[in-house]
Amino acid sequence: MPARLRPNLDFMPSPVPDRPGLVIRDPFHYSDATLIIPPALVPSLEFFDGERRETDLRACLVQITGDLDVSGLMQHLEETLSTAGFLEDGNYARLRETAEKSFADAPLREPAHAGSGYPNETAELTETFAGYLNGATKGDGRRALAIAAPHVSPFGGVESYRAAYASLFRQAFGERIFEDPPRAFAAAMSALQAFQQEPAEFFPYSSRYDAFLKGDIELTDQEERGVAIFKDPAKGGCAGCHVLKESVRDPVASMFTDYGYEAVAIPRNDRAPRPRKPDLGLCERTDSVTPSDDAASCLYFRTPSLRNVALRRSYMHNGAFRSLREVVAFYATRASDPKRWYKSGVPFDSVPARYRARVNVTSPPYDRKVGDPPALDDREIDAVVAFLGTLTDARYRAAP
Ligand code: HEC
Repeated sequence: MPARLRPNLDFMPSPVPDRPGLVIRDPFHYSDATLIIPPALVPSLEFFDGERRETDLRACLVQITGDLDVSGLMQHLEETLSTAGFLEDGNYARLRETAEKSFADAPLREPAHAGSGYPNETAELTETFAGYLNGATKGDGRRALAIAAPHVSPFGGVESYRAAYASLFRQAFGERIFEDPPRAFAAAMSALQAFQQEPAEFFPYSSRYDAFLKGDIELTDQEERGVAIFKDPAKGGCAGCHVLKESVRDPVASMFTDYGYEAVAIPRNDRAPRPRKPDLGLCERTDSVTPSDDAASCLYFRTPSLRNVALRRSYMHNGAFRSLREVVAFYATRASDPKRWYKSGVPFDSVPARYRARVNVTSPPYDRKVGDPPALDDREIDAVVAFLGTLTDARYRAAP
């Protein structure tokens, strides 16, 4: 059996015009390798799922190459993936162990942002920090409960973040905390430590589905039907991107994302305040680390995890859908009833015509023709929605 491809890799279309294919990288940097898998070989990656056998991979390669002798190619493919540290095998285990050990043993850990994103001298940093929070208005006296956007830029939306953080700080450390900058700085460090030391808060894995994985509870009949449809490659096909692994009791194997990017062509959000140009996804990155305006990656959006998905008020990157049922109905009928989603009657009218060919129309649930019965009927949609409801962590289920 070929070893499984690691589920925690980055996959994206190659931005290099003369080397098309699928780029694979390790966002965790256990490995520094970058591979570009040529388009023809991409389908064979599916066979590195830890379940299918060598003979299945061989058959796939024979089909791709039209050559009966694929032993050399197969060996090359396995070796390349393994050497890169992309398979769940001994080589990856070694790379990971070495990286983790050297991190744990290091007398001094290299800073990731200190010295670039912000100063790395305590005195200077204390001053910067005080500057962020100085002058925060007192607010209207109501208790702040949480801050919606944790990734705060000191330049954008700074007034509202300042007010919100200052209010949380005063609640936690006392009204006068900002009168003493070194103490305020120490308080910020201890808040950060508390956050990082709390895996039970951070990733509790306490959903009913996790309990089911561990063998502690059973799902209802409807939820069982839902997960079966979700997994069935000929039916919902959802697990192809939103990965789960029921044979593994450890919930970490079921993150409900493959961390990859897909072109789904979500309809326009009619409730958005003003008409705007279409969202192009990966080719509109303006961050400083990996900015991109490369047309080859347009239309691709990251497959989100579906853990706690039932709690959302709106769905998809643009909030086009308002309920889980609407999302699943979209998947079920995008191909058979495109008018329902693309009001002009032209499928994928929400994205520029030149990119429409990128949208996946071949694999279930998208492989229908207009007028065909939907990929999932109403009962099946309800079952999938019920199953998605099992992914809600306990602390949110208890909430009113
Ligand atoms: C080919 C990959 C792929 C398949 C198959 C797929 N999804 Fe998705 N899913 C995505 C991507 C990509 C997004 C985000 C799209 C966007 O925002 O533009 C998404 C978004 C979602 C969301 C919204 C999550 C949020 O937080 O807004 C839900 C719910 C969802 N998918 C459920 C499903 C279900 C149920 C199925 C099977 C019927 C399915 N998906 C099949 C890739 C996929």
